[in-house]
Amino acid sequence: MDIKELISVLPKAELHLHIEGSFEPELMFEIAERNKVSIPYKSVEEVRDAYSFHNLQSFLDIYYAGASVLLKEVDFYDMTMAYLKRCYEDHVVHTEIFFDPQTHTDRGVPFEVVFKGIKNALDEGEKKYGITSKMIMCFLRHLSEEEAFKTLEMAKPFKDNIIAVGLDSSEVGHPPAKFQKVFDEARSQGYLTVAHAGEEGPPDYIWQALDLLKVKRIDHGVRALEDEKLMDIIIRERIPLTVCPLSNLKLCVVDDLRKHNLKKMLDRGVCVTINSDDPSYFGGYMNQNFLETSKALNLNKSDLIQIAKNSFEASFMDDKEKEHWIEKCNQVQ
Ligand code: ADE
Ligand code: ZN
Repeated sequence: MDIKELISVLPKAELHLHIEGSFEPELMFEIAERNKVSIPYKSVEEVRDAYSFHNLQSFLDIYYAGASVLLKEVDFYDMTMAYLKRCYEDHVVHTEIFFDPQTHTDRGVPFEVVFKGIKNALDEGEKKYGITSKMIMCFLRHLSEEEAFKTLEMAKPFKDNIIAVGLDSSEVGHPPAKFQKVFDEARSQGYLTVAHAGEEGPPDYIWQALDLLKVKRIDHGVRALEDEKLMDIIIRERIPLTVCPLSNLKLCVVDDLRKHNLKKMLDRGVCVTINSDDPSYFGGYMNQNFLETSKALNLNKSDLIQIAKNSFEASFMDDKEKEHWIEKCNQVQ
């Protein structure tokens, strides 16, 4: 079996995926038309041409503009179903998706519309494709902690279907410490916590995410290697890193995939996983991330199996489900 085939037959869990980042330009045009909203592009090609980024912020500006055509429950449903079809094609059997309520509620779209559109699609995805899922609600870190508290309040009626809260958007200048109180409150309400840290921001932000926000996983975390003490803890406590190689390349976190530190971290025993982040914008879904990373870093068969197993270990599934999928990974020859 060659590497490509191995990647396609390995069961995988995706743990770092912004549902708004799976919004393909074709669907964006279709929804813009049916909602009678205009977008500043003449064609799908023109949209794709605009997807050239030099850092996180240059991407976020376009990402928030793209999401602005989403108005109705069916829009969120269609976007999520399209992503689940790609999961099915890539043998992603479990996905824990991020959604950004503030991107929508700030435009007057009710929380309930966003939530129900996504949740109904996830339920349908389980029936149609057998894909299990969890929802993670992210706070936009460029907004205030007070705004995050309002979002937490809006989520109350839907709380039982949201496993965790997370932290995303512009990292530098918005440290995890800014959200300590709202994360305390979220944990007291029963949410698990995760946070983007160490994508562009320094290792200190990863420390803050662990010590102040008590996160179960670090999203990205690729700058952890700059701090040996931090690496010790991440390895010893098996704190998972949800790494997104094609995202790191497109946002110039690395200038060449061959220089990515994923293999170094894997070899040191870090629980690293591979994920697609915003696949519509970064040129690939799960298997494309696996494939391009494998080629660039010469990952071998046992590396790939280990990364797939890590994805289940790091997931918020219960222990029985984790064991089931880890065993399935072990059976792949
Ligand atoms: N929102 C969507 N993708 C993101 C990323 N890679 N980092 C921070 N915020 C995001
Ligand atoms: Zn992300």
